[in-house]
Amino acid sequence: MSTPGVRALLGACSVSGDKSISHRAVLLAALSPDQSRIRGLATALDCRASVRAAVRLGAAVVERDGELLIRGAPELPRGEVCIDCGRSGTTMRLLAGILAARDGASVLLGEPQLLARPMERVSEPLRAMGARVETAPGGRAPLRIRGGGLVGIRYRLPVASAQVKSAVLLAGLRAEGRTVVEEPVPTRDHTERLLVAMGAGVEEGWQEGVRSIAIGPTQLGGLDLDVPGDASSAAVLAAAAALVPGSCVTVRSVSANPTRTAFLSLLVEMGAAVEVGESGPGAEAAADVTVRHRPLRAVEVGTDRVPLLVDELPLLGLLATQAEGTTVVEGAGELRFKEVDRISGLTEGLRRLGATVEESRDGFAVSGPTRLHGGAVDSLGDHRLAMVFSLAGLLAAGGVTVAGTEFIGDSFPEFRSVMRSLQ
Ligand code: S3P
Repeated sequence: MSTPGVRALLGACSVSGDKSISHRAVLLAALSPDQSRIRGLATALDCRASVRAAVRLGAAVVERDGELLIRGAPELPRGEVCIDCGRSGTTMRLLAGILAARDGASVLLGEPQLLARPMERVSEPLRAMGARVETAPGGRAPLRIRGGGLVGIRYRLPVASAQVKSAVLLAGLRAEGRTVVEEPVPTRDHTERLLVAMGAGVEEGWQEGVRSIAIGPTQLGGLDLDVPGDASSAAVLAAAAALVPGSCVTVRSVSANPTRTAFLSLLVEMGAAVEVGESGPGAEAAADVTVRHRPLRAVEVGTDRVPLLVDELPLLGLLATQAEGTTVVEGAGELRFKEVDRISGLTEGLRRLGATVEESRDGFAVSGPTRLHGGAVDSLGDHRLAMVFSLAGLLAAGGVTVAGTEFIGDSFPEFRSVMRSLQ
């Protein structure tokens, strides 16, 4: 559908380091007594919580010439530690695994938004390994952990979550025997890749379509890593290019990890033109990505595809308003447990802008194409919804006022300036 008056987005840009990879790089580096060097760390505010946590774990952290140098303490500090994870769910869940394996007591706290998120999903397997983990009522944080003396388990993920997988694997680094995580549906594999890059023996297996990852007690070596550009921030720019007629946008050096590129395949399925350049070397490869606008068509996304698209599904909701047909997303109930309930937040916001949208228990359906109109929408304090609604402003006659854009910095502080550079 043509959207008169909208200026095409044109040009090349880059995004800061990937948030998921940065959290892991920093926290894993804090576990190694060797020096780690991390280049291109995420500017995402969430990742600062992981850097603070690394320091609380006794690591020496220095920033020099664009590199973060981290050397973990020979042993994790004893005695009670209390760590504020801010709004970062990844920091809290990964730390839970690290602290469960450490002798001593610890408390994990965070901002009210984080204290409302489910933590039983990590507490339960860590208890099964022998840690004492107490949650607040409803299985929420603060988490009180008394760790040490863990024994490896075989654990099949009841929810497809890379954070839960990572928490169990990190606890497994200091558990007796082997720890095996089984994931019926693949999730992002950054933890496994970085563990291998730090010298850990990680065994991967497949049985009847279920992936298993096994690890034993390990002393990690140092990490030397170039963090590629954030796949989810790049997805926002790719979506913008796919939405606005005449656009052609290149994002340089984006994570080419195959567990993070599902959104690009989805754009192709919807009809956008996507070119991915050659991947570079390293544990976490990068490639340039170019996206050109083309008329879009509806797609269907079910349970199997959700985990590798989970952070991009709100973008899909907006794309679907401009696509021919009805886009249906099912099996995405996890979206209700992100920073906010992203299913109701997304559907409410899109409806206010004139979209034809239905909310379901575990997803949504959007029919298009629709000419969006202007209005006021609320991101509910969620960075991803704030960016989706800001992109809607490119299409809506009359402009969109978004409440809560200050939270965009949680993942993509440069969003506004990068968008401006393309307009
Ligand atoms: C993340 C995994 C996903 C994702 C989150 C980051 C990670 O969460 O939504 O933004 O870095 O492991 P779940 O593992 O809970 O699905």
